[in-house]
Amino acid sequence: MTAKISRRALVRLLGIASASLTMPGLGEAITQSESKNSGASVTPRHFSSGFLWGSAAASYQVEGAVNEDGRGQSIWDTFSHTQGKVNNGDTGDVSVDFFHRYQADIQLMKELGLKSFRFSISWSRIFPTGRGTPNPQGLNFYNKMVDALLEAGIQPYCTLYHWDLPQPLQDKGGWSNADTSKAFADYAGYTAGKLSDKIQNFMTINEMRTVAEQGYSLGVHAPGLHLDTKSLAQLNHYLVLGHGLAVQSIRAQAHRGTKVGIADNINATVPVIETPEHIAAAHKAMREENAMYLTVVEEGRYTELYLKRLGANAPHFTAEELKVISSPMDYVGLNIYQPTYVRADGTEAGYSVIQPPSSYPHMYSPWLTVGPEAIYWGPKLVAEIWKVKTLYITENGASSADQIAADGHVYDTDRVMYLRNYLTQLQRAVAEGVPVKGYFLWSLLDNFEWADGYEKRFGITYVDFATQKRIPKESAAYYKQVIRENRVL
Ligand code: FCB
Repeated sequence: MTAKISRRALVRLLGIASASLTMPGLGEAITQSESKNSGASVTPRHFSSGFLWGSAAASYQVEGAVNEDGRGQSIWDTFSHTQGKVNNGDTGDVSVDFFHRYQADIQLMKELGLKSFRFSISWSRIFPTGRGTPNPQGLNFYNKMVDALLEAGIQPYCTLYHWDLPQPLQDKGGWSNADTSKAFADYAGYTAGKLSDKIQNFMTINEMRTVAEQGYSLGVHAPGLHLDTKSLAQLNHYLVLGHGLAVQSIRAQAHRGTKVGIADNINATVPVIETPEHIAAAHKAMREENAMYLTVVEEGRYTELYLKRLGANAPHFTAEELKVISSPMDYVGLNIYQPTYVRADGTEAGYSVIQPPSSYPHMYSPWLTVGPEAIYWGPKLVAEIWKVKTLYITENGASSADQIAADGHVYDTDRVMYLRNYLTQLQRAVAEGVPVKGYFLWSLLDNFEWADGYEKRFGITYVDFATQKRIPKESAAYYKQVIRENRVL
């Protein structure tokens, strides 16, 4: 049977945000009364003053220049050059050539009014073989680029691992090998030690779940492996261990005042209907669905249910490792794109995850289901459950089948729709006092979208990859205005 969804149900699923689009005034009235109740100082649709509007990118997706200045090979070089792995045979060899064009792109950021830029460092530029002797030229690019950001009044937020593991470390097992966790901590500490005079904010690993699931289980990302359940559970443990060791090593080597966090794509659990029982279910689900990532990082233990579900496949770990894994952070970054709807039930877990019907709306990327409430419930639950004091949305954005119109403009109305609805829900959280301090839109420029190659565009700026011409889209005009007015438009 084909699942059907009525328009009314769709509005309910998409939440108040959509309702306020079709019924002017309603969203505002609700936000206003929530603000009044919580006593928060933000006015309707506004964000708190000093809210950090930014954009995000990652080294392999934008830099190009893969053979310059002594850079070593990463697993994404290997993977993208393996036939059949990436759509259309695309690679990150050139991408948007950010390595050479960063100055002009930083001007674009300035023009938009961006207050921050989240980028990642290519480990293979700093340590071409992953460990050992650093490449003196490696830091040069990031030093220059960060100087240009600072000159433009844009705060740098630096991710240390956004998936481009040095190939020599993969040759020794990659994240399946505990030595990789140690090598990561060494590289992270060294790099933060060198750059923390200019960069105050570091993030360890981007999206541990994607690293494990896409790279080592489904095999659709580098290194393209298919580990069994037990090996994968152990690998997950080494990922969080790598994160914890890196937090400690950054603290040991960086300047005082350096802030350390993570950029994690939690399963953002959303109550299917906002009733007390389903909200309680979303709470439980947040801990259990993220048990091997943010939960263990925050709590320093694996949940009983997680270990029970794995049984004989549970990872080996020590009490000392759990302590390292839960080393205190200064903030938590959340990458939130889609919702995980849950409902209350009578199972041991007290909830179940609802799989979306085939008719569920999504953006150009089929995985990117539209559920703006994810960006309300995600940060709200994380703040409540783990008493997190500072949160950022380290990624949110949408793919679109962008076309250049006859007048030369790109009218990405679907991306604007997506952003407007998600920002409405984010503002709802901020208005209630959820401590989200900033938002990094993915992404400033179209870029290499991993296994999808260049076909799925996520930029608010269109890139003609043949000429490297940049064309700000309608969504760039939208975001610029949001930033200028510090409110949802
Ligand atoms: C996230 C990744 C980022 C980008 C966006 C669309 O999962 O962290 O690199 O690919 O998705």
